[in-house]
Amino acid sequence: MVTKNIVVLTGDGIGPEVCRQAVRVLEAVAERCGHNFRFTAHPMGACAIETTGNPLPESTLAACRAADAVLLGAIGDPKYDNDPTAPVRPEQGLLRLRQELGLFANIRPVVAYPSLLKHSPLRAERIEGTDLLIFRELTGGIYFGAKGRDEHGGAYDHCVYSRAEIERVAHLAFAAAGTRRNQLTLIDKANVLETSRLWREVVRELAPAYPAVAVDYLFVDNAAMQIIMNPRQFDVILTENMFGDIISDEASVIAGSLGLLPSASLGAGVCLFEPVHGSYPQATGLGIANPLATILSAAMLLEHLGLVEEAALVREGVEEALTNNILTPELNPKAPYTTEQVGSYVAFWVRDSGEQQWSASNAAIGASTII
Ligand code: IPM
Ligand code: MN
Repeated sequence: MVTKNIVVLTGDGIGPEVCRQAVRVLEAVAERCGHNFRFTAHPMGACAIETTGNPLPESTLAACRAADAVLLGAIGDPKYDNDPTAPVRPEQGLLRLRQELGLFANIRPVVAYPSLLKHSPLRAERIEGTDLLIFRELTGGIYFGAKGRDEHGGAYDHCVYSRAEIERVAHLAFAAAGTRRNQLTLIDKANVLETSRLWREVVRELAPAYPAVAVDYLFVDNAAMQIIMNPRQFDVILTENMFGDIISDEASVIAGSLGLLPSASLGAGVCLFEPVHGSYPQATGLGIANPLATILSAAMLLEHLGLVEEAALVREGVEEALTNNILTPELNPKAPYTTEQVGSYVAFWVRDSGEQQWSASNAAIGASTII
Protein backbone atom coordinates (compact mmCIF):
# COMPACT_ATOMS: atom_id res chain seq x y z
CA MET A 1 0.00 0.00 0.00
CA VAL A 2 1.43 3.36 -1.05
CA THR A 3 0.25 6.93 -0.67
CA LYS A 4 0.82 9.28 -3.61
CA ASN A 5 -0.09 12.90 -4.18
CA ILE A 6 -1.08 13.45 -7.77
CA VAL A 7 -1.63 16.96 -9.09
CA VAL A 8 -4.12 17.09 -11.94
CA LEU A 9 -3.89 20.00 -14.37
CA THR A 10 -7.11 19.52 -16.25
CA GLY A 11 -6.50 22.47 -18.59
CA ASP A 12 -8.71 23.58 -21.45
CA GLY A 13 -11.16 22.21 -24.00
CA ILE A 14 -11.54 18.46 -23.61
CA GLY A 15 -8.77 18.39 -20.96
CA PRO A 16 -11.15 18.22 -17.95
CA GLU A 17 -13.26 15.44 -19.56
CA VAL A 18 -10.37 13.17 -20.39
CA CYS A 19 -8.67 13.82 -17.02
CA ARG A 20 -11.86 12.88 -15.19
CA GLN A 21 -11.79 9.46 -16.82
CA ALA A 22 -8.08 8.94 -16.13
CA VAL A 23 -8.65 9.83 -12.47
CA ARG A 24 -11.50 7.32 -12.29
CA VAL A 25 -9.18 4.65 -13.62
CA LEU A 26 -6.51 5.62 -11.08
CA GLU A 27 -9.13 5.48 -8.33
CA ALA A 28 -10.05 2.00 -9.52
CA VAL A 29 -6.38 1.02 -9.29
CA ALA A 30 -6.18 2.44 -5.76
CA GLU A 31 -9.27 0.52 -4.72
CA ARG A 32 -8.17 -2.72 -6.31
CA CYS A 33 -4.61 -2.60 -4.99
CA GLY A 34 -5.23 -0.88 -1.65
CA HIS A 35 -3.31 2.31 -2.47
CA ASN A 36 -4.08 5.82 -1.39
CA PHE A 37 -3.96 8.31 -4.26
CA ARG A 38 -4.73 11.90 -3.36
CA PHE A 39 -5.74 14.08 -6.29
CA THR A 40 -5.73 17.86 -6.33
CA ALA A 41 -6.73 19.89 -9.37
CA HIS A 42 -4.99 23.14 -10.29
CA PRO A 43 -5.46 25.60 -13.16
CA MET A 44 -3.02 25.96 -16.05
CA GLY A 45 -3.44 27.25 -19.59
CA ALA A 46 -6.28 29.39 -20.95
CA CYS A 47 -8.47 28.64 -17.91
CA ALA A 48 -5.73 30.02 -15.65
CA ILE A 49 -5.35 33.12 -17.82
CA GLU A 50 -9.10 33.74 -17.49
CA THR A 51 -9.06 33.57 -13.70
CA THR A 52 -5.58 34.85 -12.77
CA GLY A 53 -4.06 36.45 -15.88
CA ASN A 54 -1.20 33.94 -15.63
CA PRO A 55 -1.11 30.68 -17.65
CA LEU A 56 0.93 29.04 -14.87
CA PRO A 57 -0.06 30.56 -11.52
CA GLU A 58 2.60 30.33 -8.79
CA SER A 59 0.24 28.21 -6.65
CA THR A 60 -0.04 25.66 -9.48
CA LEU A 61 3.73 25.52 -9.92
CA ALA A 62 4.23 25.11 -6.17
CA ALA A 63 1.68 22.28 -6.07
CA CYS A 64 3.44 20.52 -8.96
CA ARG A 65 6.82 20.81 -7.27
CA ALA A 66 5.39 19.24 -4.11
CA ALA A 67 3.56 16.40 -5.91
CA ASP A 68 4.66 12.81 -6.52
CA ALA A 69 3.52 13.15 -10.13
CA VAL A 70 1.53 15.49 -12.37
CA LEU A 71 -1.23 14.45 -14.76
CA LEU A 72 -2.13 16.98 -17.45
CA GLY A 73 -5.14 17.02 -19.78
CA ALA A 74 -4.54 19.55 -22.54
CA ILE A 75 -4.17 23.29 -22.91
CA GLY A 76 -4.97 25.81 -25.61
CA ASP A 77 -7.82 27.91 -26.92
CA PRO A 78 -8.53 29.15 -30.47
CA LYS A 79 -9.01 32.62 -29.05
CA TYR A 80 -5.21 32.81 -28.63
CA ASP A 81 -4.30 30.76 -31.71
CA ASN A 82 -5.99 33.31 -33.93
CA ASP A 83 -4.40 36.29 -32.23
CA PRO A 84 -0.66 36.40 -32.92
CA THR A 85 -0.33 39.56 -30.85
CA ALA A 86 -1.82 38.10 -27.64
CA PRO A 87 0.54 39.15 -24.80
CA VAL A 88 0.01 35.93 -22.82
CA ARG A 89 -0.74 32.51 -24.28
CA PRO A 90 -1.86 29.22 -22.72
CA GLU A 91 1.16 27.40 -24.22
CA GLN A 92 3.51 29.61 -22.20
CA GLY A 93 2.18 27.92 -19.08
CA LEU A 94 3.12 24.45 -20.30
CA LEU A 95 6.49 25.55 -21.65
CA ARG A 96 7.35 27.27 -18.38
CA LEU A 97 6.21 24.24 -16.38
CA ARG A 98 8.47 21.98 -18.48
CA GLN A 99 11.35 24.35 -17.89
CA GLU A 100 10.71 24.88 -14.16
CA LEU A 101 10.41 21.14 -13.49
CA GLY A 102 13.41 20.43 -15.75
CA LEU A 103 11.42 17.98 -17.88
CA PHE A 104 14.05 17.49 -20.54
CA ALA A 105 12.87 14.17 -22.00
CA ASN A 106 9.47 13.57 -23.51
CA ILE A 107 8.71 9.93 -24.21
CA ARG A 108 6.01 9.06 -26.70
CA PRO A 109 5.32 5.40 -27.45
CA VAL A 110 3.55 4.54 -30.71
CA VAL A 111 2.00 1.10 -31.05
CA ALA A 112 -0.13 -0.30 -33.86
CA TYR A 113 -2.84 -2.14 -31.92
CA PRO A 114 -4.01 -5.19 -33.93
CA SER A 115 -7.70 -4.41 -33.40
CA LEU A 116 -7.22 -0.89 -34.75
CA LEU A 117 -5.23 -1.65 -37.89
CA LYS A 118 -8.37 -1.17 -39.93
CA HIS A 119 -8.86 2.36 -38.59
CA SER A 120 -5.53 3.72 -39.71
CA PRO A 121 -5.60 5.57 -43.01
CA LEU A 122 -2.34 3.70 -43.69
CA ARG A 123 -2.41 0.19 -45.09
CA ALA A 124 -2.57 -2.47 -42.39
CA GLU A 125 0.32 -4.48 -43.82
CA ARG A 126 2.59 -1.45 -43.64
CA ILE A 127 1.94 -0.61 -40.01
CA GLU A 128 1.24 -4.02 -38.49
CA GLY A 129 3.69 -4.79 -35.69
CA THR A 130 4.85 -1.18 -35.20
CA ASP A 131 6.19 -0.60 -31.70
CA LEU A 132 8.37 2.46 -31.44
CA LEU A 133 9.37 4.90 -28.75
CA ILE A 134 10.09 8.55 -29.48
CA PHE A 135 12.48 10.42 -27.17
CA ARG A 136 11.86 14.09 -27.80
CA GLU A 137 14.17 16.64 -26.15
CA LEU A 138 11.78 18.98 -24.36
CA THR A 139 13.49 21.98 -22.77
CA GLY A 140 15.92 23.22 -25.41
CA GLY A 141 16.29 24.10 -29.06
CA ILE A 142 14.20 26.55 -31.02
CA TYR A 143 11.38 26.44 -28.45
CA PHE A 144 13.53 28.06 -25.79
CA GLY A 145 16.12 30.07 -27.72
CA ALA A 146 15.98 33.86 -27.99
CA LYS A 147 13.02 34.99 -30.03
CA GLY A 148 11.78 38.36 -31.11
CA ARG A 149 11.39 40.99 -33.77
CA ASP A 150 14.25 42.87 -35.36
CA GLU A 151 14.55 46.51 -36.37
CA HIS A 152 13.63 45.72 -39.99
CA GLY A 153 10.25 44.24 -39.11
CA GLY A 154 11.53 40.66 -39.32
CA ALA A 155 11.41 37.99 -36.63
CA TYR A 156 13.80 35.35 -35.29
CA ASP A 157 13.79 32.17 -33.17
CA HIS A 158 17.22 30.92 -32.20
CA CYS A 159 17.95 27.23 -32.02
CA VAL A 160 20.61 26.50 -29.41
CA TYR A 161 21.78 23.21 -27.86
CA SER A 162 24.53 22.56 -25.34
CA ARG A 163 26.40 19.25 -25.20
CA ALA A 164 24.94 18.57 -21.75
CA GLU A 165 21.37 19.04 -22.99
CA ILE A 166 21.94 16.49 -25.72
CA GLU A 167 23.84 14.04 -23.51
CA ARG A 168 21.23 13.68 -20.78
CA VAL A 169 18.34 12.84 -23.11
CA ALA A 170 20.57 10.69 -25.33
CA HIS A 171 21.60 8.59 -22.30
CA LEU A 172 17.93 7.90 -21.53
CA ALA A 173 17.23 6.93 -25.14
CA PHE A 174 20.25 4.61 -25.32
CA ALA A 175 19.23 2.96 -22.05
CA ALA A 176 15.66 2.48 -23.29
CA ALA A 177 16.89 0.94 -26.55
CA GLY A 178 18.95 -1.47 -24.45
CA THR A 179 15.77 -2.79 -22.82
CA ARG A 180 13.99 -3.16 -26.17
CA ARG A 181 15.32 -4.13 -29.62
CA ASN A 182 18.71 -2.43 -29.25
CA GLN A 183 18.23 0.06 -32.01
CA LEU A 184 18.49 3.83 -31.79
CA THR A 185 17.75 6.25 -34.63
CA LEU A 186 18.80 9.87 -34.32
CA ILE A 187 16.60 12.15 -36.42
CA ASP A 188 18.19 15.48 -37.33
CA LYS A 189 18.99 17.84 -40.18
CA ALA A 190 22.77 17.57 -39.99
CA ASN A 191 23.16 18.39 -43.68
CA VAL A 192 21.98 21.93 -42.90
CA LEU A 193 21.90 22.73 -39.17
CA GLU A 194 24.90 23.20 -36.90
CA THR A 195 22.89 22.12 -33.85
CA SER A 196 22.09 18.86 -35.67
CA ARG A 197 25.79 18.30 -36.34
CA LEU A 198 26.41 18.68 -32.62
CA TRP A 199 23.63 16.12 -31.92
CA ARG A 200 25.35 13.62 -34.25
CA GLU A 201 28.73 14.27 -32.69
CA VAL A 202 27.48 13.78 -29.14
CA VAL A 203 25.46 10.67 -29.97
CA ARG A 204 28.46 9.18 -31.79
CA GLU A 205 30.61 9.83 -28.69
CA LEU A 206 28.12 8.16 -26.35
CA ALA A 207 27.54 5.10 -28.55
CA PRO A 208 30.57 3.07 -27.33
CA ALA A 209 29.12 3.11 -23.80
CA TYR A 210 26.15 1.12 -25.18
CA PRO A 211 27.85 -1.52 -27.33
CA ALA A 212 24.71 -3.61 -27.73
CA VAL A 213 22.78 -0.72 -29.26
CA ALA A 214 23.05 -0.14 -33.01
CA VAL A 215 22.77 3.56 -33.93
CA ASP A 216 21.65 5.01 -37.20
CA TYR A 217 21.06 8.54 -38.38
CA LEU A 218 18.27 9.93 -40.54
CA PHE A 219 17.55 13.40 -41.86
CA VAL A 220 14.19 14.61 -40.64
CA ASP A 221 12.68 15.00 -44.12
CA ASN A 222 13.54 11.42 -44.99
CA ALA A 223 12.41 10.28 -41.54
CA ALA A 224 9.01 11.92 -42.07
CA MET A 225 8.58 9.69 -45.09
CA GLN A 226 10.09 6.52 -43.57
CA ILE A 227 7.92 6.72 -40.50
CA ILE A 228 4.75 6.16 -42.49
CA MET A 229 6.27 4.06 -45.30
CA ASN A 230 7.97 1.55 -43.03
CA PRO A 231 7.44 2.27 -39.33
CA ARG A 232 8.49 -1.23 -38.24
CA GLN A 233 12.12 -0.33 -38.96
CA PHE A 234 12.16 1.91 -35.85
CA ASP A 235 12.74 0.93 -32.25
CA VAL A 236 13.83 4.04 -30.30
CA ILE A 237 13.86 7.42 -32.03
CA LEU A 238 15.85 10.26 -30.51
CA THR A 239 15.34 13.79 -31.70
CA GLU A 240 15.38 17.45 -30.77
CA ASN A 241 12.41 19.44 -29.51
CA MET A 242 10.83 20.76 -32.70
CA PHE A 243 11.40 17.68 -34.87
CA GLY A 244 10.00 15.53 -32.06
CA ASP A 245 6.86 17.64 -31.86
CA ILE A 246 6.17 17.18 -35.56
CA ILE A 247 7.27 13.56 -35.95
CA SER A 248 5.16 12.40 -33.01
CA ASP A 249 1.93 13.88 -34.37
CA GLU A 250 2.75 12.24 -37.69
CA ALA A 251 3.41 8.90 -36.00
CA SER A 252 0.00 9.05 -34.31
CA VAL A 253 -1.55 8.19 -37.68
CA ILE A 254 -0.07 4.71 -37.23
CA ALA A 255 -1.99 4.16 -34.01
CA GLY A 256 -5.22 5.07 -35.79
CA SER A 257 -5.99 8.10 -33.65
CA LEU A 258 -4.18 10.92 -31.91
CA GLY A 259 -6.57 10.08 -29.08
CA LEU A 260 -4.49 7.00 -28.27
CA LEU A 261 -1.04 8.48 -27.77
CA PRO A 262 0.23 8.99 -24.23
CA SER A 263 3.43 10.68 -23.13
CA ALA A 264 5.72 11.01 -20.15
CA SER A 265 7.93 14.02 -19.54
CA LEU A 266 10.85 13.15 -17.34
CA GLY A 267 13.49 15.16 -15.54
CA ALA A 268 15.45 15.05 -12.34
CA GLY A 269 12.44 15.66 -10.07
CA VAL A 270 8.67 15.51 -10.37
CA CYS A 271 7.52 14.12 -13.71
CA LEU A 272 4.53 14.96 -15.87
CA PHE A 273 2.21 12.72 -17.86
CA GLU A 274 -0.03 13.97 -20.63
CA PRO A 275 -1.72 12.86 -23.83
CA VAL A 276 -0.02 13.94 -27.05
CA HIS A 277 -3.23 15.48 -28.38
CA GLY A 278 -4.33 19.06 -27.84
CA SER A 279 -7.41 20.62 -26.27
CA TYR A 280 -9.71 19.86 -29.27
CA PRO A 281 -11.95 22.85 -28.47
CA GLN A 282 -14.63 21.92 -31.03
CA ALA A 283 -15.36 18.75 -29.06
CA THR A 284 -15.58 20.33 -25.61
CA GLY A 285 -18.51 18.98 -23.62
CA LEU A 286 -19.80 16.75 -26.43
CA GLY A 287 -18.62 13.50 -24.85
CA ILE A 288 -16.80 12.48 -28.03
CA ALA A 289 -13.21 12.96 -26.86
CA ASN A 290 -11.16 9.79 -26.59
CA PRO A 291 -9.93 9.43 -22.98
CA LEU A 292 -7.56 6.54 -23.76
CA ALA A 293 -4.47 8.69 -24.40
CA THR A 294 -4.88 10.23 -20.95
CA ILE A 295 -5.64 6.85 -19.37
CA LEU A 296 -2.49 5.43 -21.00
CA SER A 297 -0.58 8.47 -19.71
CA ALA A 298 -1.86 7.55 -16.25
CA ALA A 299 -0.44 4.06 -16.84
CA MET A 300 2.95 5.63 -17.60
CA LEU A 301 2.58 7.63 -14.38
CA LEU A 302 1.98 4.45 -12.38
CA GLU A 303 4.99 2.78 -13.96
CA HIS A 304 7.13 5.79 -13.13
CA LEU A 305 6.02 5.57 -9.49
CA GLY A 306 7.20 1.97 -9.47
CA LEU A 307 3.67 0.56 -9.68
CA VAL A 308 4.48 -1.67 -12.62
CA GLU A 309 1.75 -4.29 -12.17
CA GLU A 310 -0.83 -1.58 -11.68
CA ALA A 311 0.30 0.04 -14.93
CA ALA A 312 -0.03 -3.30 -16.71
CA LEU A 313 -3.56 -3.67 -15.34
CA VAL A 314 -4.57 -0.30 -16.79
CA ARG A 315 -3.05 -1.20 -20.17
CA GLU A 316 -4.95 -4.49 -20.13
CA GLY A 317 -8.16 -2.57 -19.46
CA VAL A 318 -7.42 -0.28 -22.41
CA GLU A 319 -6.69 -3.26 -24.65
CA GLU A 320 -10.01 -4.81 -23.60
CA ALA A 321 -11.77 -1.61 -24.62
CA LEU A 322 -9.96 -1.67 -27.98
CA THR A 323 -10.74 -5.31 -28.71
CA ASN A 324 -14.36 -4.99 -27.67
CA ASN A 325 -14.84 -1.81 -29.66
CA ILE A 326 -15.77 0.29 -26.62
CA LEU A 327 -14.49 3.35 -28.44
CA THR A 328 -15.31 6.98 -29.12
CA PRO A 329 -16.67 8.02 -32.54
CA GLU A 330 -13.36 8.61 -34.35
CA LEU A 331 -12.59 4.90 -33.91
CA ASN A 332 -16.12 3.55 -33.76
CA PRO A 333 -18.31 5.79 -35.90
CA LYS A 334 -21.16 3.28 -36.27
CA ALA A 335 -21.78 2.47 -32.60
CA PRO A 336 -19.81 5.07 -30.66
CA TYR A 337 -19.40 5.18 -26.90
CA THR A 338 -19.02 8.43 -24.97
CA THR A 339 -15.87 9.66 -23.24
CA GLU A 340 -17.47 8.73 -19.94
CA GLN A 341 -18.50 5.24 -21.07
CA VAL A 342 -15.02 4.43 -22.33
CA GLY A 343 -13.57 5.63 -19.01
CA SER A 344 -16.15 3.60 -17.07
CA TYR A 345 -15.34 0.50 -19.04
CA VAL A 346 -11.63 0.71 -18.31
CA ALA A 347 -12.20 1.66 -14.65
CA PHE A 348 -14.68 -1.17 -14.26
CA TRP A 349 -12.28 -3.62 -15.84
CA VAL A 350 -9.41 -2.44 -13.65
CA ARG A 351 -11.52 -2.78 -10.53
CA ASP A 352 -12.83 -6.24 -11.35
CA SER A 353 -10.53 -7.59 -14.07
CA GLY A 354 -13.47 -8.55 -16.20
CA GLU A 355 -15.04 -10.71 -13.49
CA GLN A 356 -18.31 -8.86 -13.75
CA GLN A 357 -20.22 -7.85 -16.80
CA TRP A 358 -19.85 -4.23 -17.77
CA SER A 359 -22.79 -2.50 -19.39
CA ALA A 360 -23.44 1.05 -20.44
CA SER A 361 -26.15 1.27 -17.80
CA ASN A 362 -23.84 0.62 -14.87
CA ALA A 363 -21.23 2.93 -16.38
CA ALA A 364 -22.01 5.62 -13.84
CA ILE A 365 -20.92 3.46 -10.93
CA GLY A 366 -17.76 4.84 -9.43
CA ALA A 367 -18.04 8.15 -11.25
CA SER A 368 -15.40 10.46 -9.85
CA THR A 369 -16.45 13.22 -7.52
CA ILE A 370 -12.95 14.62 -7.14
CA ILE A 371 -12.46 16.60 -10.32
C1 IPM B 1 2.95 19.16 -27.46
C2 IPM B 1 2.26 20.44 -27.82
C3 IPM B 1 3.06 21.58 -27.23
C4 IPM B 1 4.41 21.58 -27.89
C5 IPM B 1 2.39 22.97 -27.33
C6 IPM B 1 1.01 22.97 -26.72
C7 IPM B 1 3.24 24.06 -26.74
O1 IPM B 1 2.09 20.56 -29.19
O2 IPM B 1 3.11 18.87 -26.27
O3 IPM B 1 3.35 18.42 -28.38
O4 IPM B 1 4.57 22.12 -29.00
O5 IPM B 1 5.34 21.04 -27.30
MN1 MN C 1 2.72 18.82 -30.34
